[in-house]
Amino acid sequence: MEHQLIIKLILLGDSGVGKTSLTKKFALNDFEENSISTIGVDYAKKNIEINGIIIQLNIMDTSGQERYQSISKSVIRNAEGIIFVFDITNEDTFQGIKKWLMTSFDIKENFPKILVGNKLDLEEKRKVDKERANEFSSKENMEYFEASAKNGSNVEIIFKEIARLILANQKKEEENKNFNLNSNKKGKKDKC
Ligand code: GTP
Repeated sequence: MEHQLIIKLILLGDSGVGKTSLTKKFALNDFEENSISTIGVDYAKKNIEINGIIIQLNIMDTSGQERYQSISKSVIRNAEGIIFVFDITNEDTFQGIKKWLMTSFDIKENFPKILVGNKLDLEEKRKVDKERANEFSSKENMEYFEASAKNGSNVEIIFKEIARLILANQKKEEENKNFNLNSNKKGKKDKC
């Protein structure tokens, strides 16, 4: 299927939360128990359909390791949306989201972003309450989802949701541009 649109998104979060695993599950329907830590950034592509339009998702899967942070920072600029990921069985990774939000501090408040608590299949080891994650997420203007790269639950949903937010944002920006263009034209006419 030939794509009609391309959108670019990035996954950010501490090392080991499952960014690569979510990406692989979504793009290749594959899961590895012993996934190797990402070096710098990896790229993946997948076509999806939203409202009858074929969209190619270009996914930037970054490393959560401290030493690659400058690479993550530099690729954030190319992204049109962010999926922040933590591991529901690891409190530190939830706290780490604040750091990742700061890493991307220069994004606008209404920039498309969502929060994902991964490893939902490990419910019995949960350390981060859903309510707490939801509360934090809405304070930061994000929707919150829980997913499992291992059993695939909600994986498709999170990528479709970020794509939907990016498309809505693009539409809004286009409308603003047209509005400003028309206002300028009108201003010039009034002067004449
Ligand atoms: P970095 O590349 O170091 O930033 O890590 P990452 O966030 O990409 O994590 P990765 O996908 O490499 O996963 C780390 C480990 O968690 C691997 O052993 C995965 O198999 C495991 N894992 C990832 N997602 C899940 C999940 O949903 N459930 C379970 N049980 N394990 C998972």
